[in-house]
Amino acid sequence: MALKDIILLLHPVIAVTVVFPLMGIVINRALQVRQRRLETVSTGKSKIPPIAGQEHVQLGRWLTGAVVGIVLIALAYAIFSNVFDHQVWLKSSFRVVFIVLLFAATIGSTILLYQAKAKDQNWRGVFATLTGMGLVILGCQDGVYRLTNKWYMSHYYYGITAALLMIFSLAILPEIYKDKTNVWRKIHIAANFLALLLFFGLGMTGTLSLLEIPLTWQKGYINQLYQKQCDANNCLITNPILPDKL
Ligand code: HEM
Ligand code: HEM
Repeated sequence: MALKDIILLLHPVIAVTVVFPLMGIVINRALQVRQRRLETVSTGKSKIPPIAGQEHVQLGRWLTGAVVGIVLIALAYAIFSNVFDHQVWLKSSFRVVFIVLLFAATIGSTILLYQAKAKDQNWRGVFATLTGMGLVILGCQDGVYRLTNKWYMSHYYYGITAALLMIFSLAILPEIYKDKTNVWRKIHIAANFLALLLFFGLGMTGTLSLLEIPLTWQKGYINQLYQKQCDANNCLITNPILPDKL
């Protein structure tokens, strides 16, 4: 396996071995937090220990970082593959500098979002917006496999939306505790229920991406077989008739 393929696999490997197991624990603790709160409201006591809440929040913070991290890894792979394949720095060196600065700014604002105190409501809003903007602008760069014409099954759109929802959850975290009317709690549940559906979708579309984005040794065959059928404006790819022996 070439080094490029190992880098390609970094993102799915971390998703499967770190992000999804972490999500399982976060969801388990979320159900316990809810059950504990409802039992305490109705009967005044619950068998579920109060630590469930702390564990949900601590691991939730890790989950946000892990999701933003793997999205940045995937985007870096896609964007820099394109930069190297097309020698973009020769044609437009400013673009490459801009992309590098954008990665640094996005990572910087994520760190500052983690550091922002509960009372710094505005700063939390600012850093969450900057982190989200960083991901979206990076996602618009050349080389990212966006599949916009099939957005409803696009790994990219699912992934960016899930990451934005995680950033939002981190930003509103202190609000859930401050708000006695439970409005922020309900917003949190709705946002993360949507995130949960997106994570299921990411498991499916990610596996599909693994099949669609070729490894280095496959790329040559695919280009050979498919390129003939495409022109610059209209690319209608039909099932090629494969030779008996490749
Ligand atoms: C898949 C992801 C997640 C799901 C499904 C989820 C769901 C929930 C649920 C059902 C509750 C209980 C609400 C209630 O008391 O009725 C809750 C509470 C909470 N969640 Fe999440 N959540 C997720 C991720 C996160 C993340 C990423 C964070 C923070 C970064 C977070 C922070 C909180 C906080 C602060 C509470 C209140 C805990 C308490 O009352 O002690 N959650 N969540
Ligand atoms: C938390 C879950 C995940 C999130 C948030 C996520 C997000 C993303 C994003 C935003 C991209 C960039 C768009 C692109 O270039 O296609 C991407 C790429 C990719 N994802 Fe995921 N993904 C997740 C899980 C998975 C899983 C489970 C797999 C496979 C089993 C996978 C496989 C891939 C592949 C092969 C690529 C393209 C290569 C790359 O750019 O690194 N992803 N993902």
